[in-house]
Amino acid sequence: MQHILAELEEKRAAARLGGGKKRIDAQHAKGKLTARERLEILLDPGSFEEYDMFVEHRCLDFGMEKQKVPGDGVVSGWGTINGRLVFVFSQDFTVFGGALSEAHAEKICKVMDQAMKVGAPVIGLNDSGGARIQEGVASLAGYAEVFQRNVMASGVVPQISCIMGPCAGGAVYSPAMTDFIFMVKDSSYMFVTGPEVVKTVTHEEVSAEQLGGAVTHSTKSGVSDLAFENDVDALLQLRRFFDFLPASNREKPPVRPTDDPADRAEPSLDTLIPANPNKPYDIKELIAKVVDEGDFFELQPSYAANIVTGFARMEGATVGIVANQPMVLAGCLDISSSRKAARFVRFCDAFNIPIVTFVDVPGFLPGTAQEYGAIIKHGAKLLYAYAEATVPKVTVITRKAYGGAYDVMSSKHLRGDVNYAWPQAEIAVMGPKGAVEIIFRDDRGDPQKIEARTEEYRRKFANPFVAGHRGFIDDVIMPHNTRNRICRALAMLKEKKLANPWKKHGNIPL
Ligand code: HXC
Repeated sequence: MQHILAELEEKRAAARLGGGKKRIDAQHAKGKLTARERLEILLDPGSFEEYDMFVEHRCLDFGMEKQKVPGDGVVSGWGTINGRLVFVFSQDFTVFGGALSEAHAEKICKVMDQAMKVGAPVIGLNDSGGARIQEGVASLAGYAEVFQRNVMASGVVPQISCIMGPCAGGAVYSPAMTDFIFMVKDSSYMFVTGPEVVKTVTHEEVSAEQLGGAVTHSTKSGVSDLAFENDVDALLQLRRFFDFLPASNREKPPVRPTDDPADRAEPSLDTLIPANPNKPYDIKELIAKVVDEGDFFELQPSYAANIVTGFARMEGATVGIVANQPMVLAGCLDISSSRKAARFVRFCDAFNIPIVTFVDVPGFLPGTAQEYGAIIKHGAKLLYAYAEATVPKVTVITRKAYGGAYDVMSSKHLRGDVNYAWPQAEIAVMGPKGAVEIIFRDDRGDPQKIEARTEEYRRKFANPFVAGHRGFIDDVIMPHNTRNRICRALAMLKEKKLANPWKKHGNIPL
């Protein structure tokens, strides 16, 4: 018996050592943690239950039969984050550069299958040279098995990817299908074709960091939700983020007890909107003042900043916040912001998270770049997402709600449950100036007449009461009372039940 135990310990020690001390030192020298060190930070102490520590690859080519490392380049299993179950895999760059073999893929598939059965999120920590070159198509097949599971799990359990090293070629498509992507600055990158191929094909000279680093993907492409300074920062923020998410689509979002009173008045909100309707203000100030303890977890803060998305809590329960940001592009909807918000709204709807929408939108951004880029289809994504969402939807129009953008932003007509407006709200087809220039075209030569007409239009239409008369707005509320009114609305909507007609799936304008 003794020697069996010793053998087991030996095997475990070999697995824990991964690719060996030299490669671990090299990993550290790059400012990166090892796969196991990362899991130690991500999971509650002592909670990790490892699977498949003794799995080895089955490749017999290129001398691989002599190079076997127990675990085969990925550490997988389950554990808890603040006491809540999560399935994890963490690719080990010290073993064949974290490259994915058939056996490596099977390990990932195993945790994904279990997560689906028990209804718990999956977090993947990616650090891999891609397909295990020695295995050829067996490795490609392994990727496809993972992809298929990503798709089946989509909308069933939350899936989060944290890119902490290379992620290139077709390998990027697994993270791309997960719900959220976090990246680490300077040590991670994602691209379909790397700098060398780019240079050959398009003659562009670009570094890996410029092409697909964390900053690129969190500012230019929007592929990444957040970019972090280092591994520790990313993993600690991932723990904080995890607390907002329900375990699966069968559960309500978690509730965290709070001392923040639901009826807390916030007098400073009464003066948030500048007297001049063309002056911006920071919508994030409103969000911080309304949500529990000012705790707002913003996603994609540096991408399409004309719309703000993220999670917060109201009376302890998670809500998704979507808000136009007047500080950027006057809060206009454009291609990027429509896509950003649409994906967020769909996540919330899939996982029973109520959506609170703050509206201050002068319309869609004009221009050839937008039209040629298919703003029609992209704007429709956000419209579609709001319209199909059956979770509680509470909307507050703080100022402008013009034109089609008024309809899109969780309006009453898209089954908004409770729609409020602040007294300064202007709900109309367009702003007074534009409207007068069109309907009183003949008066254009007479500034005094135009001024009078503009004032008349503003009085008649640029207010919340025209919409209020028709019941499109449920109430005009005092800004200082916004938190109280949203909390009351959400409490009333707690047991909301609404189902869409049966269909195989809709055809969202992709
Ligand atoms: C097998 C690999 C590997 C791979 C790296 N290694 N990538 N082994 N298959 N794909 C091994 C290296 O041989 C080396 O082994 C160790 O991992 C570390 O690699 P280094 O090159 O020394 O590290 P570094 O300088 O940091 O460079 C990392 C890298 C580079 C940029 C990822 O290794 C690289 O370019 N690898 C090849 C990437 C690639 O072309 N992958 C296939 C892409 S196609 P030793 O023993 O020396 O430590 C793809 C298709 C997916 O992924 C399709 C899905 C549908």
